[in-house]
Amino acid sequence: MGAQQVAERFTELYGTRPEGVWAAPGRVNLIGEHTDYNDGFVMPFALPHQAVAAVSRRDDGILRLHSADIEGGVAELRLDALAPQSDPNWTAYPAGVAWALREAGHQVTGADVHLSSTVPTGAGLSSSAALEVVIALALNDLYELGLRRWKLARLCQRAENVYVGAPTGIMDQTASSCCEQGHALFLDTRDLSQQQIPFDLAAEGLRLLVVDTQVKHAHSGGEYGKRRAGCEKGAALLGVDALRDIPYAELDAALALLGDEEEIVRLVRHVVSEDHRVERVVGLLSSGETRAIGPVLTEGHTSLRDDFRISCPELDLVVDTALSAGALGARMTGGGFGGSAIVLAESTDVETLTKATEEAFAAAGFTTPRIFEAVPSRGAHRVI
Ligand code: GLA
Repeated sequence: MGAQQVAERFTELYGTRPEGVWAAPGRVNLIGEHTDYNDGFVMPFALPHQAVAAVSRRDDGILRLHSADIEGGVAELRLDALAPQSDPNWTAYPAGVAWALREAGHQVTGADVHLSSTVPTGAGLSSSAALEVVIALALNDLYELGLRRWKLARLCQRAENVYVGAPTGIMDQTASSCCEQGHALFLDTRDLSQQQIPFDLAAEGLRLLVVDTQVKHAHSGGEYGKRRAGCEKGAALLGVDALRDIPYAELDAALALLGDEEEIVRLVRHVVSEDHRVERVVGLLSSGETRAIGPVLTEGHTSLRDDFRISCPELDLVVDTALSAGALGARMTGGGFGGSAIVLAESTDVETLTKATEEAFAAAGFTTPRIFEAVPSRGAHRVI
């Protein structure tokens, strides 16, 4: 739904024009998976799919929320009654942001919100971060809070971790908030320092496909938290603040120290090697060797499948089929256990790859995947 339509629907619902309309995108992660809560490196870029919100201020402590995408009327919440982990619905994301802003001492006295999103949900493409960031940016502008983009991302992460109750890292919110069109974001999640890396695949005759397996994942489910706790245990056993502090050159020595802690060995090996893969991809892109990132992406998938153990048959099938049909590289993206995979391919191979993937899914009896091209798009911004 376009910004104009979102504004018109707002007017129908609330009886006045909105003060403004904002947009925030979903993301795919090129490389750097499950490294963000280990203080490591990630490299996402923004999708053209976005959450669009029309918003006006209120001064009576009430937050009214309405979504074009979900059945139901306007939800009316009292800001001073917001309590962490009390809301199992979509409203927890925007409400969590208002809660986090107020908790941090910012004067937010209410809002009317109508929103609509084109980011597929449960597909590992950060539909929840898009919802959080669009509200954070709107409230930041309307209440003139003057918060920088990275700070908004931190507050959105807090909304998700504490208010919603999902123990995610900082990647998705920073991607939605800070990405730039035509670029991938090389982010150091320890201090949130950033570098925009030019990533114009089309100019090089390449494409990046997203294959949404339609297998729904859920973060608050225990597996994500278990991996996170295992990584923290690994860091503690190795005497470092976070696994990011283990240099790649010292990985073997670190693994030897972990002895027969098999499970932890696998987690540590993934995280430390994945940080190194991000650095390799940045190096290759910076020296114009874009095609050479393919095998590094595929290595990342193998590591997530065999060491981190968060893939699933559908994601593995995308990767195997794509590679046999001539892709340069492929891997699952996002939290895992379903969701989406990415495939890097020559433009001329896209049709063959799409057909091969659809056929392989049909032959395996899996739901038809949704396949689209990902073009690095704009981060969050005001539209009207
Ligand atoms: C989810 C989380 C992110 C990150 C990824 C895995 O998308 O929200 O913080 O941990 O999984 O890289």
